[in-house]
Amino acid sequence: MKTTLLRVFASSVLLISSAGFFRAQGAQPLPKEPFGKTSDGQEVFLYTLKNSGGMEVKITNYGGTVTSVKVMDRNKKFGDVVLGFNTLEGYTQKLNTAYFGALIGRYGNRIARGTFTLDGHQYHLPINNAPNTLHGGLKGFNAKVWDAKDVSTAEGPALELHYLSKDGEEGFPGNLDVTVRYSLDAQNGLHIDYNATTDKDTVLNLTNHSYFNLAGAGSETVLQHKLTLAADRYTPVDSTLIPTGAIQEVAGTPFDFRTATTIGAHIKDQNEQLKLGNGYDHNFVLNSSGQLSTAAAKVEEPKSGRVLEVFTTQPGVQFYTGNFLDGKMHGVGGTYRFRSALCLETQHFPDSPNRASFPSTVLHPGEQYHETTIYRFSTE
Ligand code: GLA
Repeated sequence: MKTTLLRVFASSVLLISSAGFFRAQGAQPLPKEPFGKTSDGQEVFLYTLKNSGGMEVKITNYGGTVTSVKVMDRNKKFGDVVLGFNTLEGYTQKLNTAYFGALIGRYGNRIARGTFTLDGHQYHLPINNAPNTLHGGLKGFNAKVWDAKDVSTAEGPALELHYLSKDGEEGFPGNLDVTVRYSLDAQNGLHIDYNATTDKDTVLNLTNHSYFNLAGAGSETVLQHKLTLAADRYTPVDSTLIPTGAIQEVAGTPFDFRTATTIGAHIKDQNEQLKLGNGYDHNFVLNSSGQLSTAAAKVEEPKSGRVLEVFTTQPGVQFYTGNFLDGKMHGVGGTYRFRSALCLETQHFPDSPNRASFPSTVLHPGEQYHETTIYRFSTE
């Protein structure tokens, strides 16, 4: 895993500052309200992050879940652009296999047959997406109660979430200490900073699973949204959505989003990969890997004029068109129908623990895991 000195330095500054002081001077306290109790009696809360322009993000420490993101359209009308629920029960209901807005870990995306070998030892994880392990197992980070701390500064609101995943949890080795910091800047950017350390060699792949519909949550489909993905290549999958190991050029395929392309333009093409994913549900290899300065993805919604740009240090992004949404779940925005949202899950590639040719997802003791993703909203 790439851990540059700069990253280590930046994250230690972050850790020192977060351990030392909480909310900085001049910062507004984050509004906090009760959000219910888990089945084992843990109280959870909902925090509101609002910037000077009025953009508002709500996050619960249940699963570190982003429940709502309100941004303006081109007529300055605010609307919620992520699928979510306004009650805890929405998230904990059996029907919810979507991971709406949640933090995903330890391993975002799939690990083939729930098995991998590390340092000569074979690990077995629970199979929760037969025949594979998906998004961390039976009870991933999305279903954990995180410790929350208001770490807002004069620059803007910020919430720090902490979770200690014990050695052996969901079959993964090592005590993994994870801190995720959500913050909002004045340019309508939602920053997600992920930090982690371990006391044993382990694998991890942290992400956020927000579902966007820039026309407003509950709108019909995202097929009219335009997408640009700075990715010359993607990782094709088998019938269980595990990468075959190939890294394929997007040129000449429905996976070519290098210039702005309507999502619905080719989604129904006769294409083996689209058939396997029942639409787009694929990892793209980002040209911008490791750099926050250039956009990895851009989404434009023509009617509202809303624009979302994604910046990330991660090498990949899972572009998923909500192909498993089936209209059975009803949330704040209404009914969550087939393809009524899209995900851009910034990540390492799926099944990396079993693919030596993919960027490594191994974290060693003494190393500092650090990744950042920014979702920035504007209008045009
Ligand atoms: C990811 C996966 C999809 C699906 C969703 C959750 O995006 O790639 O196949 O499992 O999570 O429903």
